[in-house]
Amino acid sequence: MTDCEHATPADCTTDRRGWFDWVSWLMLGAGGAVLSIPVVGYLLGAAIWRRKDEWVSLGKTADFKENETRLVTLKNPLRGPWDGITGELGIYVRRDPEKGFEIFSVHCTHLGCPVSWFSEPGLFMCPCHGSVFYEDGEYAAGPAPRGLYKIEHKIDGDNLHAHVGHLPTLQNPGTPPKDPQATT
Ligand code: FES
Repeated sequence: MTDCEHATPADCTTDRRGWFDWVSWLMLGAGGAVLSIPVVGYLLGAAIWRRKDEWVSLGKTADFKENETRLVTLKNPLRGPWDGITGELGIYVRRDPEKGFEIFSVHCTHLGCPVSWFSEPGLFMCPCHGSVFYEDGEYAAGPAPRGLYKIEHKIDGDNLHAHVGHLPTLQNPGTPPKDPQATT
């Protein structure tokens, strides 16, 4: 570093200017790094912190009557602390005397509106654009491209569990749709 007491004024000014240049670049770099955190998080977050669906208990199997379809609301295991009511998840549980349990997402396979169950005609109906699904979730009418999304389930002792978390979509439906050619 130049000793300003014994240096020419020109040398001293150049030295100070160099120091300010370094400080400016340092602050610019630090600011850029801080500002890039949300952008990098947005671009890489989903890939790095990918969370998987989890098994959630729906209660005792005996609580579900045969021939009944019931809306069950539960906390989404993938919810964040800030999600509020959007962290809740609705699923329809149906208990068929022959086929056993079937669980469907409430989300219509057209654009995702929540479908409603009407026990009298035995149909799920979507209020948004009029898609209709049979009681076994199969497509009946309207713009929906397929039947309701089925949710994987298991019975552990006398408890019913559903594998839930992500919002099912046509690209990532979860349990594959039933093969229309299948006989059972
Ligand atoms: S979202 Fe259900 S018919 Fe369009």
